[in-house]
Amino acid sequence: MHHFAYRDGALFAEDVDLRRIAAEVGTPVYVYSSATIERHYRVFEEAMRAINPSRPPHVFYAMKANGNLGVLKTLAALGAGADTVSEGEVRKALAAGFPPEKIVFSGVGKSEQELAFAVEAGIYQVNIETEGELDLLSRVAAKLGRRQEAVFRVNPDIGAGGHAKITTGSAANKFGVSFEEASRLYARAANMPGVRMMGLAVHIGSQIRETEAFEAAYAKMAGLVGSLRDEGHRVERLDLGGGLGIPYEIPKSFDHGPSLIQDYAAMVGRVTKGLDVELGFEPGRLIVGNAGILMTKVLHLNPRPSKQFLVVDAAMNDLVRPAMYEAYHEIWPVTEAAADAKQVAYDVVGPICESGDTFTTGRELPELRPDDLIAFMTAGAYGASMSSTYNQRLLVAEVLVKGAEYAVTRPRQTFEELLGTDRAPPWLA
Ligand code: LLP
Repeated sequence: MHHFAYRDGALFAEDVDLRRIAAEVGTPVYVYSSATIERHYRVFEEAMRAINPSRPPHVFYAMKANGNLGVLKTLAALGAGADTVSEGEVRKALAAGFPPEKIVFSGVGKSEQELAFAVEAGIYQVNIETEGELDLLSRVAAKLGRRQEAVFRVNPDIGAGGHAKITTGSAANKFGVSFEEASRLYARAANMPGVRMMGLAVHIGSQIRETEAFEAAYAKMAGLVGSLRDEGHRVERLDLGGGLGIPYEIPKSFDHGPSLIQDYAAMVGRVTKGLDVELGFEPGRLIVGNAGILMTKVLHLNPRPSKQFLVVDAAMNDLVRPAMYEAYHEIWPVTEAAADAKQVAYDVVGPICESGDTFTTGRELPELRPDDLIAFMTAGAYGASMSSTYNQRLLVAEVLVKGAEYAVTRPRQTFEELLGTDRAPPWLA
């Protein structure tokens, strides 16, 4: 579901004509829809709350998916928490208005300085991923006179995901303490001055479109909750991570059918029935994926005997998913094509100097000309947040739409900002 649709021959974000944004802000530009973000959050939160109304869940938005301040403030205002993975994310979550008691800190390699910052800020929970981190967290927190609430992220040896690079739950992946070690570590942690173990966390991968792998992993975790309790430990929280996938192939209508969210909620209810734990969730892509597009302009055509290249002003530094994961993004012309428009198979490429800078090959699109605008759909998650300045390209502008209004929530980077932070070594200054 999303709020990008054609109206009077042009693609709109809610009630804003994308051509207006292109004219006023320029391209490339990310455009996000508040209504879509709000709806996704509400649908997810309500479905998870219905699992066990007597123990409301925590929904921690995985802000790595999209850390735009406007997006974060929209979610903070809805009451969401934040799942963070670096000091920068903790700082940005706080700046966006997420209360510390709704922030969790995950990640494979947290440094002493990062842990100290998070503990001092008073965050809700640290998701510990290694024994070394357990020792470090306890030491850091004890030094600050604190006892930090924490859970162990356990690797259930069940992975899944839309691509090998985004699978995290198998034993071959770097994430979490091993399932077999969880009991020993839990017992060790009980005697440590700086931590208070509250439970367990798991996250098996991303862009997962069926519930089977989740179910297998969660069932294992539920078993572990039981055995830890049998050993006398207190296990009050079970953080089930993120990873629910979204449709990247979308019909041009407002809604696309029954939701995976309901199946997922039913499955979680089944697996955690009678467990009496406080559930946590860390959705990222599900909340923001379909809520954003990357609008770009056609610069040139480059016809070859065997193919037609369409060179656009966005590149792999702006949206790396196709180059990095062979990801598919639909491409919609911003000006609606006539029903009988000639179709051309394009290789859509960016200006960067490597062949990997290809968004798609042989994609049938209505015939396009220089200066035409097109939109990469479903670019709200892991789009802008993974962008870089490769080839000394400016980070693109980001815009948040609400109804008939829009705001530039991240102005296009300037050349002064891009070049101004470099320092020449003294011997060459
Ligand atoms: N929790 C943890 C511990 C995670 O590592 C992640 C994502 C999430 C939650 C949120 O997962 P989601 O609900 O968004 O699937 N850049 C890749 C995706 C990487 C996902 C990393 N971890 C992509 O563009 O497909």
